[in-house]
Amino acid sequence: MIIPEFKELRGKLVHLQAFGVSDITPEYISWLNDPVVTRYSNQRFVRHTAQSCLAYLESFSGTSNLFLSVKRLDDMRAVGTMTAYVSPQHETVDIGIMIGDRDVWGKGVGFDAWSSLVNWFHETVRCRKITAGTMRINSAMMSLMDRSGMSLECVRPRQELLDGVPQDLCYFAKYRENLQADLTAYDAVYQTGVA
Ligand SMILES: CC(C)(COP(=O)(O)OP(=O)(O)OC[C@H]1O[C@@H](n2cnc3c(N)ncnc32)[C@H](O)[C@@H]1OP(=O)(O)O)[C@@H](O)C(=O)NCCC(=O)NCCS
Repeated sequence: MIIPEFKELRGKLVHLQAFGVSDITPEYISWLNDPVVTRYSNQRFVRHTAQSCLAYLESFSGTSNLFLSVKRLDDMRAVGTMTAYVSPQHETVDIGIMIGDRDVWGKGVGFDAWSSLVNWFHETVRCRKITAGTMRINSAMMSLMDRSGMSLECVRPRQELLDGVPQDLCYFAKYRENLQADLTAYDAVYQTGVA
């Protein structure tokens, strides 16, 4: 799989572009240190600074992975970020999202950003399979993935603790090809005993 250079993407509500050093603003750092925003993420265990953010940004350079800034189309204000960890060998990508500006939650921004990037990976990059995961209790994220056409593929029951309470991790996927065709091929391998 050859990954085209990511330039920018425009959805109905958002604009996605590569996250750069100038995106490491006090507001961005405040999202990462906001316990409400990071409630369902392991980022809640980390205290973020400009230095830690720069180190994270640098971890993307020279890789096939993407770190994107999500900007609202009407005023180009930064409202969140997305990540995409690509495996060119397996033709897969695992996507994540953080809409850090809580004022825009529930207005369709997350869904628009998510769908725009999922479609780009399927149609332009031609990824075979797109994956993402969340705690089951993160109902906004569960709903967003469901509405974007992803299917629940597997669950790790009681995998992580949230305030001391075990929580399921739910993994979703969306295939470019017809899902049934994939499953038939998968079954055939097992029927012929070729692993
Ligand atoms: C999850 C998240 C991306 C949703 O973004 P958003 O812009 O609010 O999403 P949308 O407006 O497109 O709404 C998606 C769904 O979530 C629901 N929703 C939004 N905010 C919600 C909230 N605080 N509580 C419950 N549901 C909520 C919406 O009603 C919508 O549900 P529907 O599909 O049944 O209509 C955003 O809340 C976020 O980034 N949260 C913090 C980081 C995070 O949890 N990321 C995922 C980690 S795996």
